[in-house]
Amino acid sequence: MTMAATSQHAVKGLDLGTSRIVLATLNGEDVDFTPQLNAFVDIPYSRMTEQMLARENILHQIEGAHIYAYGNRADEFAKFLDGDTRRPMQSGLLNPAEPKNLQMIELLVGRLCGKAAKGEKLCLSIPSAPPERGSDLIFHARSVQGICEKLGYQAQPVNEGLAIVYAELKDANFTGIGMSFGGGMCNICLAYLGLPVLTTATTRAGDYIDQSAASVTGETPTTVRLHKENAAESGFALDGAAGGSIDRALSVYYADVIETAVATLRTAMAESRKLPRFTAPIPIVCAGGTAMVRNFLPRLQSVIAETELPVGISDVYLARDPCNATAKGALIGAMLNM
Ligand SMILES: Nc1ncnc2c1ncn2[C@@H]1O[C@H](COP(=O)(O)OP(=O)(O)OP(=O)(O)O)[C@@H](O)[C@H]1O
Ligand SMILES: [Mg+2]
Repeated sequence: MTMAATSQHAVKGLDLGTSRIVLATLNGEDVDFTPQLNAFVDIPYSRMTEQMLARENILHQIEGAHIYAYGNRADEFAKFLDGDTRRPMQSGLLNPAEPKNLQMIELLVGRLCGKAAKGEKLCLSIPSAPPERGSDLIFHARSVQGICEKLGYQAQPVNEGLAIVYAELKDANFTGIGMSFGGGMCNICLAYLGLPVLTTATTRAGDYIDQSAASVTGETPTTVRLHKENAAESGFALDGAAGGSIDRALSVYYADVIETAVATLRTAMAESRKLPRFTAPIPIVCAGGTAMVRNFLPRLQSVIAETELPVGISDVYLARDPCNATAKGALIGAMLNM
């Protein structure tokens, strides 16, 4: 992907997601993306394990009798430890049930970003407050911004939905609706000329799909997630012909996630008293890992077509690179603010 460098200064974009943390950096006219899984496992300490992790270049931290292995390869250990990785974030925010939440995010962000160059700007994604967690959002935003500042960055937050608008709607003058269907949340932003007119969110996203489908099929959430993500093997597609019980459950909860997001958008628009008067229909762009499954877009398009929104919609489409759109938008946010 090509992007005109607007300055000689180094800048970074950081997508701090419930499932993955993604760093975006400029590489000449291109953008490079580096993802890390936002997860870790606790392994009992032994010299041998430590040497093995070091040889395999698996990110880890030793603490007394524990080794914490974190990032992309944490998943490999989950299988033979107690079943699942531990997650520093939940539903878009710091996970209150995880005592090591900030420590692990600090390790991951430190690994990904390194120390800042003098005056280096970094823009990081912050979700909209999930219902009833407005005060938690303040703590989350201050804490993760503090982690970036400790590394020396001039850190600024950008709303995740607005980041999708920055990444995808340049040709529409940054006017339209961005939707990020992630792991912990669906974040939505309606922007007018680059300004966020309304932002809202639901906590029904990828993790909700995995947990709900696992609950009704008797599978583990990890089994369901792998079935969903590895469509090449499982053949999973929304409303596809494949008829296993996991496929059926996934389709039901996918429909629920999409309908909840569109209903939340409709309510937020109906309640907003500051909707600008749009002279023409506006586009909707969707992104995020949950939007990656086959037939997601036609499903979203049909729900939007059936919903009466107060503003005309010109087009509903999928971001070019759904998993990296938030990080790219954060990078653009950092560049816009230079
Ligand atoms: N190829 C794929 N097919 C289907 N689902 C996928 C695929 N890749 C990732 N996912 C799902 O996407 C979700 C993660 O998406 P994403 O990385 O956008 O979330 P996040 O930004 O970390 O979370 P959030 O924005 O909610 O804080 C997970 O539920 C994951 O299972
Ligand atoms: Mg996200």
